[in-house]
Amino acid sequence: MQHATVGASGIEVSRIALGTATFGLSPREDDVAALVGAARDLGVTCFDTANSYGNQPGYDWPGVTRRQDRASSEELLGRALRGAGDEVVVATKVGEPVGEGRPTSEWRGLLTRAHVEEQLAVSRARLGRERIDLYYAHLPDPWTPLEETVSVFSDLVDRGDIGAWGLSNYTGEQTAEVLATAAALGAHPPVVHQPRYHLADRAVERDLVPVLHRAGMGLAAYSPLGMGLLAGRAAAERRWAGHARWGGSGFSAAEVEAAGRFEATAASVGLPAAQAAIAWLLDRQAVTTVVVGATSEKHLRLACAAADVELDDAGRSVLDAVDLGTPARVAGA
Ligand SMILES: NC(=O)c1ccc[n+]([C@@H]2O[C@H](COP(=O)([O-])OP(=O)(O)OC[C@H]3O[C@@H](n4cnc5c(N)ncnc54)[C@H](OP(=O)(O)O)[C@@H]3O)[C@@H](O)[C@H]2O)c1
Repeated sequence: MQHATVGASGIEVSRIALGTATFGLSPREDDVAALVGAARDLGVTCFDTANSYGNQPGYDWPGVTRRQDRASSEELLGRALRGAGDEVVVATKVGEPVGEGRPTSEWRGLLTRAHVEEQLAVSRARLGRERIDLYYAHLPDPWTPLEETVSVFSDLVDRGDIGAWGLSNYTGEQTAEVLATAAALGAHPPVVHQPRYHLADRAVERDLVPVLHRAGMGLAAYSPLGMGLLAGRAAAERRWAGHARWGGSGFSAAEVEAAGRFEATAASVGLPAAQAAIAWLLDRQAVTTVVVGATSEKHLRLACAAADVELDDAGRSVLDAVDLGTPARVAGA
């Protein structure tokens, strides 16, 4: 497994990171430790979670254990990584709504000093780790002054409670604003950004990547398979692929067709679809690590094998030029 350094932080991560958003559902609670163990055996050292993953209402798929009875993703990951210490890099996030009965109109102030400090304590306890290696602002919080948000993350670095901090789902303009605020305050800047980035949604290349490049920030790409769209036609047809994973609906017929076209394109360069999609991302200069949603050892093996693929110019051009009809819901959601 190859490794890369996250921006100027000195933090080393495996180029494949294991995402844990659906821990407790897929994989089920009893299978989490085996999946995490398999990931470590394959050389994965970076694990991505959030205070909102696993037992929130959006993940109440029919047939799964009630969320009140499910452990959070952070708890499950914490248990599976017990004793791993500095051998692994754990990233978690704050900024999505957590808890019961909070209507959308009350999703405010999720990056205030008080909420960030409170939620960091929750995450540290669940993960059983004194220090969180990478701590992300999960979403921009337009209701809290940026100075307050930047200051609290920077103070957490100074206190040694976190190794470094990052942003997720901020636009290029919002990221530049955060960086300018950190510079004005003399605060620690974010070192990494986690955007949605995959072959069917390349919007970040225009908007965000130039900002990250100028700032020397790392990029951790999430949903590298477009939530299943780029894992082949059969994967796109599965019940919990696409937005169904996060409480929405599955892929449309047009998207399933696009998945089939991509599978054929990947085969033309000699790769299974999921491997081609991940290898393409790892080949992008801006990408530090790819946060995969593999939920079985089989998927994980395929994802990790992508880190060993060296795309040649011809393969790169074929994948670069693939026309997925950019299904609007995948591209713009
Ligand atoms: N920062 C954010 O706002 C944010 C948002 C979304 C996600 N994330 C992070 O990114 C991680 C991954 O996101 P994602 O789940 O959308 O990623 P993804 O890898 O794009 O999609 C996962 C989907 O692909 C399927 N799949 C994975 N490997 C496969 C393979 N080899 N063959 C066939 N199908 C395969 C999975 O099927 P199965 O269901 O059968 O496993 C699932 O349907 C999350 O766990 C989370 O850590 C972050």
